Amino acid sequence: MNKPKIVCFSCKFSWSYLADESKLAAEISNWIPIICAGKIDAEYLVDAFLHGADGVLILGCPEGDCHYQDGNIETKKRLALLRQALAVYNIEPERIRLVLARDPEGKDIPGHIEEMAKAIGQLGKIKTAKA
Ligand code: FES
Repeated sequence: MNKPKIVCFSCKFSWSYLADESKLAAEISNWIPIICAGKIDAEYLVDAFLHGADGVLILGCPEGDCHYQDGNIETKKRLALLRQALAVYNIEPERIRLVLARDPEGKDIPGHIEEMAKAIGQLGKIKTAKA
């Protein structure tokens, strides 16, 4: 398997808000800064897989620190259900990862992506991404 394609969504309130976003975007493929992990819904994730992602990484604020009260926790709950739904299409639950932490400089983002890519590489390609 070639290097797995990981799509990474990161909340701007805890991740890379002190970084030069355009510079970081040039260094990180498929990185999408967002306002709150709670904005990620199932459609975004399914769309990523349908467009060739091997995995989706969501970086949100630490628990108790979401600027929209509980968007990160709502996403955590939503992902639990979504992983079950995606299993029907042979998309393993490990292909979606949520990390709730803080990284103002965004220095850890590439490492998180790399670590997930290694794990996904062991799974191989998605057998079926379409219904
Ligand atoms: Fe960062 Fe909600 S504001 S996860």
